[in-house]
Amino acid sequence: MRPALTIIRDEHRTISAVLHALKDLARAAQEPGARPAFAALRAMVRYIDEFPEKLHHPKEDDLLARLVVRAPETRALADSLRQEHAEGARLVRELERALLFFEDSANEGEFLAAVNAYAEFHWQHMRKEEQELLPLAERILGPTDWLALDAAFEANPDFEKQFTRIVNLAPEPVGLGARP
Ligand SMILES: [Fe+2]
Ligand SMILES: [Fe+2]
Repeated sequence: MRPALTIIRDEHRTISAVLHALKDLARAAQEPGARPAFAALRAMVRYIDEFPEKLHHPKEDDLLARLVVRAPETRALADSLRQEHAEGARLVRELERALLFFEDSANEGEFLAAVNAYAEFHWQHMRKEEQELLPLAERILGPTDWLALDAAFEANPDFEKQFTRIVNLAPEPVGLGARP
């Protein structure tokens, strides 16, 4: 498989792990007497904003644009995925807002709902990319496309480092950090 496609799949696995951890922590914060792990929650929401939304999706947008140039019949799929990238950015703003409310006024129910909405949305989005987009890209794109895409996807050195930071911050059993 092309390096760019392998990296997209790897990034999906990492994003998925953060979404699972975020859901677990948000659910744990609902328990009576729980002391929410705000530092870890903030790190996770920031990670989602910085990596999937600001790095992963824009690089996929480049792949989508190249795909449509080579095979105009892929436009409908490309348009729907681009629309989902815009929707993802909007849902992350809601996630950030809900976390602020949670910290300010203990509104944990709204935060959990925002977490669940974002996680479900993103899992469905990643499934669609892996099942529909990646096989098409592999078949249709040419060597000059791969040269540019491989270079862009390989230039993401902080992705793993940030993930390690989250695992260290999140309290067990979700991560390796101390209980708040
Ligand atoms: Fe995407
Ligand atoms: Fe993706």
